Amino acid sequence: MKEQFERLQTEASAAFAAAKDAAELEAAEIKYLGRKGEMASLMQGMAGLPSHERPAMGKLANEVKIAIDRALAERKKELEAEKLGKLATEEWIDLTAPGTRPPEGHLHLVTDAIATVTDIFTRLGFTRVRYPEVEWDWYAFEALNMPKDHPARDEWETFFIDAPEHPKLGKMVLTPHTSSGQVREMQKGVLPIRMINISKTYRRQITQRHLPMFHQFEGMMIDKDVSVTHLKGVLDHFAREFFGPTRKTRLRPYHFQFTEPSFEIDVTCDVCGGTGQYGNAKCKLCKEGWLELGGAGMIHPNVLKAGGVDPEKWSGFAFGWGVERTMMMREGLKLDDIRHLYKNDFRFLRQF
Ligand code: DAH
Repeated sequence: MKEQFERLQTEASAAFAAAKDAAELEAAEIKYLGRKGEMASLMQGMAGLPSHERPAMGKLANEVKIAIDRALAERKKELEAEKLGKLATEEWIDLTAPGTRPPEGHLHLVTDAIATVTDIFTRLGFTRVRYPEVEWDWYAFEALNMPKDHPARDEWETFFIDAPEHPKLGKMVLTPHTSSGQVREMQKGVLPIRMINISKTYRRQITQRHLPMFHQFEGMMIDKDVSVTHLKGVLDHFAREFFGPTRKTRLRPYHFQFTEPSFEIDVTCDVCGGTGQYGNAKCKLCKEGWLELGGAGMIHPNVLKAGGVDPEKWSGFAFGWGVERTMMMREGLKLDDIRHLYKNDFRFLRQF
């Protein structure tokens, strides 16, 4: 039995030393020191010894156990140190080496333009609001002085929603213009008003200059004694801030049901530099040197009344422009087809 203990010590120590990693070491530990391991079965065998031999054998068994435990602990330490040593060489990084840049994105042109428009008007004291993409007929037309069947409605190529009509507000439509936000804003009941409503609008048109979904920004100011002079001043300020000092705008008399007097606002075309000529041909985009941005005017008394505002006491102006169109006219952009904006083509988007 003495020999058996001695052999166990030699074998176990050799097995521990030969273990190449923690898993192998654990397997050897189980084999020799486990509950059903070799040490345990030798200890069991001691029960069969004559009693006078037991104390000496017990002492030896104890010494062997201590030696094996020590061999195990030593190997464990060695393996741990080896692992750390490897980490230091394998996972070494050169802090002075140049890094790899993460891909860098940027805001979409339209998002950027919305932020700029918002910024210019908020600095004039206008509050940014947004109104629903789905609207009632009443807000989109009737409250804006366009009764049912009025021919002026034809200007808006409207998407009607196939849903039950509201008893007072009529049919549901995809918001055809941000002007529907005018009466919604008045109905908040807080005067005076300086609002800039930037929202999505929908029309049944798709061409080089039209998108079925686009954004408009609608400005509205209602106060005591607001006049066309204020309107002109605000629009001129916007044009200078947004397009730069070299671009020109003009007001053209026009007709809208919801304003009186009404105007259309044009800006000199960026593609042809306001000449209407591109090389030897007519400018494909504007055809005449000017591009229409949108409408404006003094709010019609009927519209004020629809919003619960007394036209005897208050007056106001409003204007509504397309964000995408306005953005296309930015200095140097030379974008000749509005549809590029929503094709999600990286070759296009990465240029900006
Ligand atoms: N809502 C008009 C459109 O979409 C634009 C417009 C014209 C807005 C005159 C106004 C305005 O506020 O006063 O064509």
